[in-house]
Amino acid sequence: MISSLTSEHTGDPGGSLTVIARKAAMHDIGALLDLINAYAAKGIMLPRTEFEMSENIRDFTVAYDGDRLIGCGALHFYSPTMGEIRSLAVDPEWKTHGVGRLLVDTLVAEALEFGLDAVFAFTYVPEFFQKVGFEEVERGELPLKAWKDCLRCPKFQQCDEIAVLRVLRPDRWSPVPHPPQPGDGFIVLPTPIGG
Ligand SMILES: CC(C)(COP(=O)(O)OP(=O)(O)OC[C@H]1O[C@@H](n2cnc3c(N)ncnc32)[C@H](O)[C@@H]1OP(=O)(O)O)[C@@H](O)C(=O)NCCC(=O)NCCS
Repeated sequence: MISSLTSEHTGDPGGSLTVIARKAAMHDIGALLDLINAYAAKGIMLPRTEFEMSENIRDFTVAYDGDRLIGCGALHFYSPTMGEIRSLAVDPEWKTHGVGRLLVDTLVAEALEFGLDAVFAFTYVPEFFQKVGFEEVERGELPLKAWKDCLRCPKFQQCDEIAVLRVLRPDRWSPVPHPPQPGDGFIVLPTPIGG
């Protein structure tokens, strides 16, 4: 899928910009690593390696202004009904021009194409996710597999990320029993700082 954003949305004063979002390819990996790992160095995102990017490149959607990568995001499947939006990043110079929304909309459209009932994310910017249709949820409501990345995160024992969820098919979505029961495949996670 290819989505686009024109200067009408970006607020570009020159009125001539067009941002294109498309599925990533191997030749995007260098620029993706630069973008993601610059945020990772500030502790905002998890760092990625070239190996991981190659392995997961089919998850990624990229946004380009001409030949410059200005944003990315990934849709990672966890179950037949649920996926995670992750590695979402917009070049600092391009923030608040609608690129993040374009990426989320594109990833949500992909999730719908694949028949998912809901998508979730872990984030430090719940306000952004609320603007693009997500709501905050209890961390323990998400499936065990969702914590795979957490196990290698330096902040695992003092996690301060917020879980957000967007239900795509309310008619098919049934919330996880709360509190989770033994054998449900859920684990209790560290309490967020200050929580
Ligand atoms: C979070 C991020 C992806 C948002 O991208 P963006 O392109 O700036 O977002 P958009 O311009 O599409 O914003 C969509 C809406 O969210 C709002 N928004 C964006 N960032 C926000 C923030 N940090 N706090 C509150 N609202 C925010 C915008 O004002 C806009 O609102 P509107 O629809 O009322 O105009 C970007 O700031 C980023 O890359 N941050 C660093 C990496 C990161 O934290 N990624 C998330 C990991 S899960």
